[in-house]
Amino acid sequence: MNTDTLDIKTIATTPFTDQRPGTSGLRKSVKDFQKPHYLENFVQAIFNSLEGCNGKTLILGGDGRFWNRHAVQVILKMAAANGVAKIILGQGGILSTPAASCVIRKHKADGGIILSASHNSGGPDGDFGVKFNTSNGGPAPERVTEAIFAHSKEVQSYKILALDDFNIDKLATFQVGGMTVEVIDSVADYEALVQSLFDFDQIRALVNSGKFRMCFDAMHAVTGPYGHAIFEKSLGFPAGTVRAGTPLEDFGGHHPDPNLVYAHELVEILFGKDAPDFGAASDGDGDRNMILGRNFFVTPSDSLALMTANHKLIPAYKDGITGVARSMPTSRAADRVAAKLGIKCYETPTGWKFFGNLLDADMATICGEESFGSGANHIREKDGVWSILFWLNILAARKESVSEIVTKHWQEYGRNYYSRHDYEEVDSDKAHGLMKALDAKLSSLKGKQFGGRTVDFADDFSYTDPVDQSVSSNQGIRIHFSDESRIVFRLSGTGTRGATIRLYLESLEIDAKKQSMDAQEALKELIAVADDLAQIKSLTGRDKPTVIT
Ligand code: G1P
Ligand code: ZN
Repeated sequence: MNTDTLDIKTIATTPFTDQRPGTSGLRKSVKDFQKPHYLENFVQAIFNSLEGCNGKTLILGGDGRFWNRHAVQVILKMAAANGVAKIILGQGGILSTPAASCVIRKHKADGGIILSASHNSGGPDGDFGVKFNTSNGGPAPERVTEAIFAHSKEVQSYKILALDDFNIDKLATFQVGGMTVEVIDSVADYEALVQSLFDFDQIRALVNSGKFRMCFDAMHAVTGPYGHAIFEKSLGFPAGTVRAGTPLEDFGGHHPDPNLVYAHELVEILFGKDAPDFGAASDGDGDRNMILGRNFFVTPSDSLALMTANHKLIPAYKDGITGVARSMPTSRAADRVAAKLGIKCYETPTGWKFFGNLLDADMATICGEESFGSGANHIREKDGVWSILFWLNILAARKESVSEIVTKHWQEYGRNYYSRHDYEEVDSDKAHGLMKALDAKLSSLKGKQFGGRTVDFADDFSYTDPVDQSVSSNQGIRIHFSDESRIVFRLSGTGTRGATIRLYLESLEIDAKKQSMDAQEALKELIAVADDLAQIKSLTGRDKPTVIT
């Protein structure tokens, strides 16, 4: 087939005003994406921002949620009509976010389109999302997402082929006019990459010892096939180790979000009778992770600190790491490890895209966020299965339990008690009003006392990227106290209904005898101070958070 002979349609459209990508791409309800031309307009805006698609190779795949298969067909037809040279597509339209990043890098593609709304619920009444990643495999930086947004406000037409749907389920290579479509195995490239990073033999020996049991909850999301292939087939964990391993378009009606609230079935197994030694879960698109031991929850902030402290046990990092990076609201447990190792710990705004430059410049090797995300320089996304393998490798090397490893860590570095309180679906005006009122107070807080704590400094976090000097301001309100405790407020950039206020709380306990408290109990006074400062209850009309993690 030759493009000249193909029936390329130019469809007239009018721009939507709400297609500004948020923390992680354009995320909206499925109903929004089903509006005529909504998806097509945004995809055309991506293509227009590329300044010519000719000769370009793009990766395409998603988390398998409802509308994934439809969007794949639309994007294939639009890509061919726009002159894209090649699309590498995950079989059935499936690629986890980390696998997509891996495939972009491995095949030296010019970028990729990932279809996912991550941990948001799926199905016809759930959410959908489209994210563009650049040639380094990472989420597009702000200058790129702003350019896409600018194009979305101007798009007057889009190009699409008038063709029947393609078979995307068969591993094959076919031509669509001048464009080649290669349908690849969704797991193979990613599996080869992680095998090169970790000591699979050491982990296999632990599995074969018969003394170690694991339970992995794929939450009926994208990591099911990855879990079956890597944990069961390659590492030898018995069948059944992966639960909810069949991806479903609506994730079985649940939120595919690996935290104590939404992954409660796994939590019940790990905190129940005859619990396995290790539990883990991943989210809708496979970039998040939750780590549990028997009767033990590891906070994502602690997990980042522990990985950093134990990096020498992992083949890929045994010769050292250049630095570590964490998002601003993530606890400062990793900072304490970095200080001891004599490496730098970078504090970036929320969102994985801010780690890209640090990783590209080899200033940081391992990165993490409090929102159940960790990863490293092997790709440019956070990586759920990688994080779980990191833990398995530590456990296999140290031959101690999860709780022993974490408790010893606290004894050595101190424990950063940590919690995040989310107030979801708050009226948007009320939420912005709360932040504005708090912002107005900031300059007068220094030196003031709250519940026996003195404010050391208070500001609205602004970040200057050390690589390209770009500035990102208004990234969240920080109130630091002189005893190293901290309160952070920010509004979510991924929610699709109303506004979500996130309150992050942290305090440091050096005394080993006081390190085994329940986090909510340990943070009780700080929680009261936060409410006093921001008047959350009275301004939102909510008497408690919707989700506590
Ligand atoms: C949330 C998390 C953030 C993460 C993002 C994408 O964003 O807080 O750390 O990078 O999801 O997974 P938020 O809704 O807070 O803007
Ligand atoms: Zn995700």
